[in-house]
Amino acid sequence: MSPLHVVILAAGQGSRMKSALPKVLHPIAGRPMLHHVIATAKQLGAERIHTVIGHGADSVRSATDEASVNWVTQREQLGTGHAVAQALPDLPDDARVLVLYGDVPLTRHETLESLVSTLDDSTLGLLTVTLDNPQGYGRIVRNTEGAVQSIVEQKDASLEQQQIREVNTGILAVAAKHLKTWLPTLSNANAQGEYYLTDIIAMAVQQGLGVSVSQPDNPYEVQGVNNRLQLAELERWYQRQQADRLMTEGATLADPARIDVRGELSIGNDLWIDVNVVFEGKVSLGSQVSIGPGCVIKDATIADGAQINAHSVIDGAVIGANAQIGPFARLRPGTELAANTKVGNFVETKKALVGEGSKINHLSYVGDASLGRNVNVGAGTITCNYDGVNKYQTVLGDGVFVGSNTALVAPVSVAADATIGAGSTITRNVADNELAVARGRQRNISGWEKPKKH
Ligand code: UD1
Ligand code: CA
Repeated sequence: MSPLHVVILAAGQGSRMKSALPKVLHPIAGRPMLHHVIATAKQLGAERIHTVIGHGADSVRSATDEASVNWVTQREQLGTGHAVAQALPDLPDDARVLVLYGDVPLTRHETLESLVSTLDDSTLGLLTVTLDNPQGYGRIVRNTEGAVQSIVEQKDASLEQQQIREVNTGILAVAAKHLKTWLPTLSNANAQGEYYLTDIIAMAVQQGLGVSVSQPDNPYEVQGVNNRLQLAELERWYQRQQADRLMTEGATLADPARIDVRGELSIGNDLWIDVNVVFEGKVSLGSQVSIGPGCVIKDATIADGAQINAHSVIDGAVIGANAQIGPFARLRPGTELAANTKVGNFVETKKALVGEGSKINHLSYVGDASLGRNVNVGAGTITCNYDGVNKYQTVLGDGVFVGSNTALVAPVSVAADATIGAGSTITRNVADNELAVARGRQRNISGWEKPKKH
């Protein structure tokens, strides 16, 4: 089969976004709309992706870290036909070409697959949709036998044509060699003075090509974004689909309308996810994981049976089976908690390896630290890991007990089964089974007279 080339139109200004950010960089599910389209093109196995840019070209390019994209500049926006024509020199003669739009982010690849898979030199594939309100769209004109004849733009349509509810999504597929003969012959003698890509439909019909029409399962798949209201509408549709998938795969959601997945989330069975939980980046959740309300979980792996309580923020962490986190815990990158660990309220961890069964239950900072098994870190313990210039390690052996309100001044290590008295500032290493106390001794002064008011 001939190679597939995708041309993505993304040169328009998007003035209705009222934004300094180019429209195609506005995010859906945390990623620029254009990146969704590029990802879909890749899923289709495109040999090359050509993106036509104009307004905000530099920022669009620099926001897109894609070696596989060929950037094509359209200096003046003279119409969709003119935009595709800018890519013609980069399209091999034997290619099949699929035209997509940087502001139509959520087309499923299955929908496009059916458009391109059957494509040959004698057909043009067109994606249409039937709308209750077709206002503003190009209308699909069919003859009495129902065969597509042409597309007429809203502004060029007769009153009769304006009654047609089947509209052009803009997405089409056709052999490159046809585009190379048709596009240079487009005229801009129409109501908008633009070179319309849609005029190639009538050209195809005239040359005896078949127009093969398909429609998406859901109109949201072909909905474009012109303003922030439409952006929000598509975001909600996307998130609802994510919620539906998670429920299908075995998660109970307290409210499918109050979960956001901005990345890749994979799950086991029998999960519970409470309201207002946000997932970012790559997150994997085992079976029987429970997540309380208001958690933010990014780039994390959470094993079976772990319980993440309300309002915990987890970023770049690995959490072992049956661990209990939060409420109000903050796990930062490099945190690795083994099975049956506990990290409680108002605890912050960073680059911390915590062995099986260890507990940091309250109000602590544990950074650049390695804890063995069954360590108990008392409330208010701080690893003093930073001298203002460099960072140092704290090492706590198996079974260490750290009394409350301890400062561990790194680099420092406390060997197995040692005990640190509460309120200590530990600056020297402690050997195994030792008790270390480093605080001023208590003095009780009897006969003390309280000061009196003058
Ligand atoms: C286009 C279609 C219309 C269809 C509608 C679907 C044409 C002539 N009309 O109309 O049939 O129903 O989309 O939304 O194709 N663009 C460029 N360079 C240009 C012009 C446009 O890159 O010179 C890009 C825009 O950034 C935009 C897309 O192409 O992403 C569509 O352009 P727009 O002007 O919005 O076309 P419509 O008038 O909506
Ligand atoms: Ca449009």
